[in-house]
Amino acid sequence: MLAAEALEGLALEADGYYVDATFGRGGHSALILQALGREGRLLALDRDPQAIEAGRRRFADEMRITLEHASFADLATLVPAHAHQRPCRGVLFDLGVSSPQLDDPMRGFSFRADGPLDMRMDPSRGEPVSAWLARASVDEIRQVIASFGEERFARRVAQAIVAARRRSALTRTSELASVVAGAVRTREPGKHPATRTFQALRMYINDELGQLERGLGAAVALLAPAGRLAVITFHSLEDRLVKRFLQRESQVDPALRRLAVLPPKARPPLKVIGRKIRPGEAELARNPRARSALLRVAERVP
Ligand SMILES: C[S@@+](CC[C@H](N)C(=O)[O-])C[C@H]1O[C@@H](n2cnc3c(N)ncnc32)[C@H](O)[C@@H]1O
Repeated sequence: MLAAEALEGLALEADGYYVDATFGRGGHSALILQALGREGRLLALDRDPQAIEAGRRRFADEMRITLEHASFADLATLVPAHAHQRPCRGVLFDLGVSSPQLDDPMRGFSFRADGPLDMRMDPSRGEPVSAWLARASVDEIRQVIASFGEERFARRVAQAIVAARRRSALTRTSELASVVAGAVRTREPGKHPATRTFQALRMYINDELGQLERGLGAAVALLAPAGRLAVITFHSLEDRLVKRFLQRESQVDPALRRLAVLPPKARPPLKVIGRKIRPGEAELARNPRARSALLRVAERVP
């Protein structure tokens, strides 16, 4: 998604060291490797073990890539361990779920096909969302659905979930989807009534915004001067976090703005490059899932 635009944003240098923080199935990584020369190196991460397994098969003969099953929240320790003191020239984040995650009912992300109610990007850690839904209070569920799904009828959905689990445990995606559909009608044409609830629960169980905040902070700290940060978001909550982060990291603290000379520590570490970029018509025609994607780019200042 937004691949050509993201690559342009990274302003790749052939012998640079780069990080693909969200490998997925390696679409962006493959393009980065194409643009790198023999000395260029790429560290690619994904918190989904299946993504890393598929990547190791796909790039079995590629010596310039290192694949790691890890979260980008841990970039601050991962990059120094792999980069061997090479300056990091760019970090790419392509957020959200991958198509293989969404399309595999066994992962529990989709309300369109029946599967276990799991939703973990990394099934080797934490608990499936069904376990949390079995014990959370109406108010906890309401709060998650309201804040991460921006669902106006969050209380109604939360009450319906708790009433349903009293009858029998909610363990399947289809059960949750029909409980939500029974509680609220969709107000958005073409959208299933459970879209917002599924998004919210996925974001909560994977701590997506918390991980993103940590990952962005670590990326800024480890980028070399003139290194680039490119972030593709998939919905408004993510984009809002990225936009605010970039604003905060690229603006001088208002309390210090009147100083004739800024102390080095007060200089903002980032400069925003260009405006936010949306997918073009051709990409939207090829991939309707790209409709809400947005790319933002920034550069580390010396
Ligand atoms: C939209 S897909 C990336 C697609 C990829 N750019 C490609 O070209 O195939 C997002 C990926 O990010 C991964 N992901 C999400 N949060 C993550 C995190 N905190 N750390 C590492 N990977 C994460 C997901 O598991 C998923 O595979």
